[in-house]
Amino acid sequence: MSAVCNGTHHHQHRKNRNEVARRRWKILARALQKNGEVDTTPNDVDDIISVRRFTTFDLIMSRPILFDSNPSASWFEYTATISQEKFSLSIRHPTRTFTAAELMGFNNTGNICVWPSEEVLAYYILCNLQYFSGKTILELGGGMTCLAGLMLAKYSTAASIHVTDGNVSAVDNVRYILKQNGFDEDKVTCSVLQWGDFQGKLNCKHITTYDIILSADCLFFDDARQDLVETIWATLKESGVAFVMAPRRGKTYDTFLEEAKMRGFHCKSIQYYNEHVWNRHLKLKQNCDYDENLHYPMLLQLRKSYMENSLDI
Ligand SMILES: C[S@@+](CC[C@H](N)C(=O)[O-])C[C@H]1O[C@@H](n2cnc3c(N)ncnc32)[C@H](O)[C@@H]1O
Repeated sequence: MSAVCNGTHHHQHRKNRNEVARRRWKILARALQKNGEVDTTPNDVDDIISVRRFTTFDLIMSRPILFDSNPSASWFEYTATISQEKFSLSIRHPTRTFTAAELMGFNNTGNICVWPSEEVLAYYILCNLQYFSGKTILELGGGMTCLAGLMLAKYSTAASIHVTDGNVSAVDNVRYILKQNGFDEDKVTCSVLQWGDFQGKLNCKHITTYDIILSADCLFFDDARQDLVETIWATLKESGVAFVMAPRRGKTYDTFLEEAKMRGFHCKSIQYYNEHVWNRHLKLKQNCDYDENLHYPMLLQLRKSYMENSLDI
């Protein structure tokens, strides 16, 4: 099976890319034909999901739950089971239509789904909860669920958690999730944070700094990568650490790594960081839809100062 996958890989990859392009044009054409409205249910969602052939590591399971009859959203229970202990959150998925202006406006990738890197980051955090005790935490580019930050908010004894994204609709959705899960508003907060806003503001005294920064699958935007590096630099404490998870996705991960080093970060790139995630990865490698380069999240730890005896997780 594996040999067949490898033999056809190149051809399949080109075919997939053509298919992705074809479907994207179809979605755009539909949006324009409908006077600026694109219906994301159910055909377009099917399109997006079928383009995203690999969607989950099955580390966090979701099942539909009913909360309200509001047709603009559906609710799911997301559950991870680790050493027979269950961790769960009520998560909202927006099902409303997006206008063409929205689709062409600020980056919408975080409103499509929870990306596998966010799933893996959430799982990794749940396996290492004690590390986050008493810490102040910021999530950047958390998308429509900020799943990693919110799992931490529910199950760790962190001092405070602030989750963010640059997209206003994504943060609106997160606000519903905070309310539904009954989070303590003094400890868990969310807001819109666009990375470009931090360019050149490093010396502003009013910028709060955090012990830990989280970010998943945010490295593939060529025009925003430098802004992300600056934002992490501006918001991380001298003694802090950023956990950045993302697949290699061509050269994008390595480019970010280089830019982070240039900025002065001490970087540690880790491929094997969790036994269970690694075992899932090895199993998935036998599957034609799974491409390690596009799907396996690497873990990058960034520090401002080199600490020989830093407590690694
Ligand atoms: C691929 S999504 C990942 C979302 C989420 N972390 C996940 O993995 O499910 C990338 C996220 O980065 C956010 N983003 C992109 N450019 C940004 C910027 N300049 N400032 C803030 N957020 C940005 C998008 O809004 C989106 O939610």
